[in-house]
Amino acid sequence: MADIDHWHPIMPSKALRHKPVAVRLCGEEIAFFRTNGGQVGALADACPHRRMRLSLGRVVGERLTCAYHGWTFTCDGQGESPGTPKMHACAKTYDACEKYGHIWARRTGSESAFPEFDIEGWTRVGSADFSAEAPLELTLDNFCEIEHTPEVHMVFGYDKARMPEVEVHTDSTNETVHMITLGPAKAVGPVLSWMIGISRKYHFRDEWTTKFSPVHSVYDHSWVEPDTGRESKVKWRVYVFFTPETEGKTRVTAFTYAKSKWPGPTGGIRPFRWLMRKHLRREIDMDLAILKGLASHEPGVDGMKLSRFDKCLVLNRERINRVYRGQAESSRRPLPVAAE
Ligand code: FES
Ligand SMILES: [Fe+2]
Repeated sequence: MADIDHWHPIMPSKALRHKPVAVRLCGEEIAFFRTNGGQVGALADACPHRRMRLSLGRVVGERLTCAYHGWTFTCDGQGESPGTPKMHACAKTYDACEKYGHIWARRTGSESAFPEFDIEGWTRVGSADFSAEAPLELTLDNFCEIEHTPEVHMVFGYDKARMPEVEVHTDSTNETVHMITLGPAKAVGPVLSWMIGISRKYHFRDEWTTKFSPVHSVYDHSWVEPDTGRESKVKWRVYVFFTPETEGKTRVTAFTYAKSKWPGPTGGIRPFRWLMRKHLRREIDMDLAILKGLASHEPGVDGMKLSRFDKCLVLNRERINRVYRGQAESSRRPLPVAAE
């Protein structure tokens, strides 16, 4: 399989109304549109006639009309020319669907499985899209190690002075990379501490699995009282997808869910969803801001001095190349090893 063969989140469903939207996915330019009947279409963003951007066209009924000479196209790419009705014209299509409040797309004809969410018993907090000015590998790196959390983050992460106490566990299968980190949490403000149900003594526990069809990580954030093992009242589960737009730009899409032991329906999460969304958006904005400072966009790890927190970087790259991009073993170089 190639990168574009996997299902990728494209944009929130509500972002696609009457006007077509131009999107880049794995280097390809695609025009998304919604017909008056509500169906989502995805066509290569260049009219088969004379290459006008179809995203500049308009929807009439169930067809997208090109802005240049008025040829029209269905979601299946079937084209008609008003001036030459007998001519057969076909636009390149992509598979599109709507799930979890987002529009998703992949190459037409691909047989990749949809990355279903395991959210039984969790309350939806919201979703958000971000744009990272970095290649896929370097964007994923930032979301797969926690050594940056004392420096970069406000809520999720570890106490800088006690970083040596943070335990890191990394294991993997052929298709996944799994990590658990546990250690003294960074200080969280009094209102949020009360809401999460933690005291200053609590340790932060982060457990996540990265999968590669498409590239995404599933995080469970929680806090644990080290003496009793008691867990925080509120836990987060976040699905973060990493979608290459171009070689140097990666779309980050986060779907956030929460579980709470507080009394009441949904554990009282509903009234606080705006606050949780705000915190998560701020934390991810901090990740994206720090990525702007990278001196090189070279996606490999050559020349990096990797720490005990960075073992996943090497494992992720091998799976990105093999599982996500479908590159043959022979075309790949051996990768270096991270420090113990
Ligand atoms: S370029 Fe689209 S109709 Fe001519
Ligand atoms: Fe981060």
